Parts: sequence; C-alpha cells; structure tokens
Amino acid sequence: MDRITVSATIRDTAHVTAEDYRRLYEESLNDPEEFWAHQKERIHWFTSPQKIKNTSFSGDVSIKWFEDGILNASYNCIDRHLPEKENQIALIWEGDDPADDASVTYGDLLLHVSRMANLLKSIGVKKGDRVTLYMPMILEASYAMLACARIGAIHSVIFGGFSPEAIAGRLDDCQSDFIITANEGVRGGKVVPLKANVDRALDILEESYGKSVKKVVVVYHTETETACDPDRDVNYNAVIGTLEDTCPAEPMNAEDPLFILYTSGSTGKPKGVLHTTGGYMVWASMTHEYVFDYKPGEIYWCTADVGWITGHSYILYGPLANGATSLMFEGVPNYPSSSRFWQVVDKHKVNIFYTAPTAIRALMREGDGPVKATDRSSLRILGSVGEPINPEAWSWYHRVVGEERCPIVDTWWQTETGGILISPLPGATDLKPGSATKPLFGVQPALVDAEGHFLEGATEGNLVMVDSWPGQMRTIYGDHERFKQTYFSTYEGLYFTGDGCRRDEEGYYWITGRVDDVINVSGHRMGTAEVESALVAHEQVSEAAVVGYPHDIKGQGIYAYVTCVEGCTPDEALLKQLIQWVRSEIGPIASPDFIQFTPALPKTRSGKIMRRILRKIAENEYKNLGDTSTLADPAVVDSLIDNRLNR
Ligand code: WTA
Repeated sequence: MDRITVSATIRDTAHVTAEDYRRLYEESLNDPEEFWAHQKERIHWFTSPQKIKNTSFSGDVSIKWFEDGILNASYNCIDRHLPEKENQIALIWEGDDPADDASVTYGDLLLHVSRMANLLKSIGVKKGDRVTLYMPMILEASYAMLACARIGAIHSVIFGGFSPEAIAGRLDDCQSDFIITANEGVRGGKVVPLKANVDRALDILEESYGKSVKKVVVVYHTETETACDPDRDVNYNAVIGTLEDTCPAEPMNAEDPLFILYTSGSTGKPKGVLHTTGGYMVWASMTHEYVFDYKPGEIYWCTADVGWITGHSYILYGPLANGATSLMFEGVPNYPSSSRFWQVVDKHKVNIFYTAPTAIRALMREGDGPVKATDRSSLRILGSVGEPINPEAWSWYHRVVGEERCPIVDTWWQTETGGILISPLPGATDLKPGSATKPLFGVQPALVDAEGHFLEGATEGNLVMVDSWPGQMRTIYGDHERFKQTYFSTYEGLYFTGDGCRRDEEGYYWITGRVDDVINVSGHRMGTAEVESALVAHEQVSEAAVVGYPHDIKGQGIYAYVTCVEGCTPDEALLKQLIQWVRSEIGPIASPDFIQFTPALPKTRSGKIMRRILRKIAENEYKNLGDTSTLADPAVVDSLIDNRLNR
C-alpha cells in the first residue's frame, strides 16, 4: 500500500481541500503578515494586535508574535463560548475504572475554573508566579491549568510518572512556590502515590537546594488519607465550595508566559520550555481545527497525559479554544482489557481519536479480536503522534481500527514547537503510511547536511525550520543562552529540530528519528545523558554510557553500559538495585531494559566514548562496527560483544 487518496466524503465537508492547502500555504509564506492577521481572528482579543510578526533566528534570537495584543487563554477556552455553548459539554472524563465517568459543560467549567482561580489567589498566587502541577488525569488537572491561565500565573505541569527527585529539580529550576497535586492517582488499577511523592520531593528540595514551597493544594481523588502539614497543605475538596463563583480573566500581553514544560535534550538537565500566550493560542486553535478537521458538535479524544505537550495543546488549549468537546481518559489502553480504547470510543461516540504509535503497536500484538468486538462506527479521523509510526502499525490502525474509512493524520511536532508542524490534512492530503506528509501553513522545513548546506529535492538530511511560526517556544526559562545554543547554533540562523528526515519526489517528509543523544521510549523523550548521570550518581558506579536500540513495542529501549568502582563485583542484586535507582532518580519511564556490566568502555585515544560502537552492539549489529582504528584498546569491544545482552 503506498498511497491512500483523499476520500470524497471527507473532502466534501473539509475545512481545507487540496486546492485550499496549496493556495493558503503559498500565501502563508509569501505574505505572513496578511495570513496571520487573518488567522488571529480565531482568538478573542481584549485588544487586537496591530503588530503581527517580529522574529529573528540570528544574533540574540528573538521571537515575538502579535506583541501588542491583549488576551487571556482561559477566557478564550471558556467565557467566549458562552452563552451559545453554556450547556454544551466541554470535557468528558472517563475514569480508570470503566464504571467511573463525568462531564462538565462550558457553564460548569467556568464555575470550577473560577473557584480554583480564587483558591489560588487566596493562598497568595500572583500574576507571573510559577505554579507546579503534579496531577493524575482528572478534571481538576484541567481546572488547575485554566485557573493559572485565568489569573496570569505560569503553570509547570510535571508528568505523574516522574520521581520525587525529578520534581525537586523542576521546582528549583523555575523557583516555584506553589504545588497542586492529588492524594493519589489510579492507572490500570494501580495506585500512584502522588502526594507522598510531593512530600518526598519537598524533603529533597530542602536537603539539596535549601528551599521550600509556600503552599500545596491537594485534591482528594481517592478515599485514601495522606499526611498533611496543616501550615502548608490545603485540602481542595474541603475549601473549594466556600470560594467565590466568579473570577475576572486577567488581561495578558500576547508575549506573557502561559506555561513552562520541562523536556529532555541531548545534554544536561531537562530544559524548561517556555510558551507564551497569543501565538500559542492561535497555533493550538488553528492546528486542532485543520489537522483533525474538527466540526462543531464532534467528540474528540486525545489519549495523551496532560503532563506532556500533547495534553496541553490537544486535550486542553486547542480543543477548548475551538469550543470542542474533548475527552480526558484516566486509564491505560489494556485495562481492564485490550478493548478498552474502543469501548470508550463506543461509549462516548468518539469521532476523532488521537494516540501514539507505541499504544497502537501494543494493541496490534493482541490481534484483531479485541478491536472487532467493538463497533467504532462513530470514528471519522484517526491521529498518531510522538514517534515515527512504522508502516505495519499504520496499516493495522487504518485497516482494523478505522476499517479503511478514516484517514490517519501522522502529526510531527515537538514540545518546543507548541503544536503540529508537519501533518496531512484529512480533506487535502493523500496519505503514505509512515510519512507525516506536508508542512502546515507558515511552516518552512528544510533538510541540511552536517555542514548546514541546504539539500534540494528528494534527499535525506537533518530537519531544520527556516522561519518562525506563532506556536514556537520563546526561550528556555531562565536560560536564553542555552536556548540559542541548543536550537540555533548547530546551523546558524536556522531552528534545528534534532530529527533526521527524508523527503521524497513529491515533497513528502518522512521523519527517521532523533539524530542527537535523545531517545524516544514509548513516545517519552529522554536524554541519554540524564540516564547516565542518574547511574553514575550511584556509589557503586564509576562510568556509564546509555544508548537506544529498536524495540518492537516501545519504539526504542534503553541499553546501559556500566563500569563499577574498584573492588565492586557486579551481581544480580546490584543490577536490580541500579534499575530501582534510576526509577527513583528520574521515574519508571527511564528504567533501563538492559544493563551490561563491563570493566571498560570503548574510548578513543583522546578519551571520548565511542557511542556509535555501543549503539551497534545494543542493536545486536556487532558484525558491522565500521572503523575502530581510533580505539585506545580494541580488546574492550570484543568483550562487550561476547557479553552483549540483546540477542
Ligand atoms: C518525535 C511530542 C516521527 C520526534 C509531540 C520529535 C515524531 C520528538 C512524531 C518530540 C511523528 C514526534 N513522527 N517522530 N509524527 N511526533 N516525534 O517533545 O523525534 O515529546 O523530535 O513532543 O518526538 O517529542 P516531544
């Protein structure tokens, strides 16, 4: 199957047809001022911007969009849809337990968010303050995000799977004085002790950074009691009913920060990616409407967690800016059974479904039965995000889940890009399994070689962006120098994505994966350096090198090579300890699949670890190691091969 043409049924009602796409794409590059002056109208501005684009990828790198506009993101997601949509459902919540669900109308949402906003004000949160969220997938997580936006506080959401150590580092990095959490989360029938993790994180914050926070708001989601510091902790459930029902939406400048979201890079600790208000909202709204061809009244479900950018842009801000009905799911794809996704689709009559390749591959392994046991006739559009989707998984998703009726939008983007940059549009783009296809409006991808020369035509290279788009990150919180260094110094004047990519004769883009030291495990981004520094922090470890290797379900797995300190004989117990150690330093998502103990790592004579060799051995491709002549001690390699673990 190499090409699936646009279906007439989809095309006839689509927001964007093939002709529209060509015309508008050209317009967006030839006259960005005009194009975005028009697109900004999809957002409600208290003061409409006169200035549209003011961006530079050179020198100090400065990115400003709609810079004299005044707006509020929460107002855009709620108030402006009233009164026509006061009784329309804004959010559907589906619990981990299939018996649990709930929904809130736009009218309800205004009430909940206003009360939460008043709660934040009452504990001292002010405009510009950073509020850290460590939440399960419950409605209160979205109230909390929108409440921050409402009063101009900057939210920093930390995925519920991160460890106390990781929370402490992020609290310190953005100097956050406030936390919103829940007593517990529940996923796949298992309890996640969120509040206990926060308490531990606050001990670490004190011990390692000499800091503390002012207040911790705790939502009681389960019946379990948790420890409570009466001076610091606030019981959300107990106080929320006593707060005022209304709260004005703070007028924010388009370039005022909306949120920080930490993500991994190839070096150092996670970076606080900063997104601002105006451009992000325009981008989230436009891409949600066009990429998913969203129509009023449709039920839309993105299975991501709000702890990731996909949850920010495509559960919350994009859909709600468009007055959509967005579904939020607390659970996992295979609990209580592998039919769960499709049962939820049937239960809520979902029209648009957006998930990750890793979930598709895991479900594909269970066979067609669990899918075919369900109806799914409500589905119209399917989406994929987070990592390259292999053509087999793509075809299964298309054939079995969508019964060849639903176009698949394979959406390429990053935490840094704020929203989707490369994707098919359902009514405009012929599909090729495994290709993210074409750039969206205003997006100018290019491929360059290692020296930064532009490559033309059908070719393969490193993916860069030539110019800015409104949803782009503005800086790394508190470290603009690192922002320039990370994204704009590899190729002068260009935004470097870190991804490798192929372009075919028709100008279709095929993302091949990261070309830097970032690995993508089940769609979760991780720096190999992060896992290495966690490992070497263990007292028995003297050196560690971490690489990714292809994994059937997860996309990539984590393979660690570890050298122990003198006098330590590694054994099964140490292996278990190290895995546990990494889980507690970063989180379960960083657990190594393999740890190979080795007396030495392959290094060049100048002492540089040859990761290329380690990658090959982890991939079980040891017969083809390439040039090893610069190695200080070639014997190291033979011993690594003999003891390799991924056979
Ligand atoms: C990868 C997630 C291929 C890519 C939204 C990127 C993809 C990184 C795709 C960003 C896709 C994301 N096809 N690769 N459709 N979508 N990626 O910041 O390597 O968690 O650089 O953002 O995921 O991961 P992040």
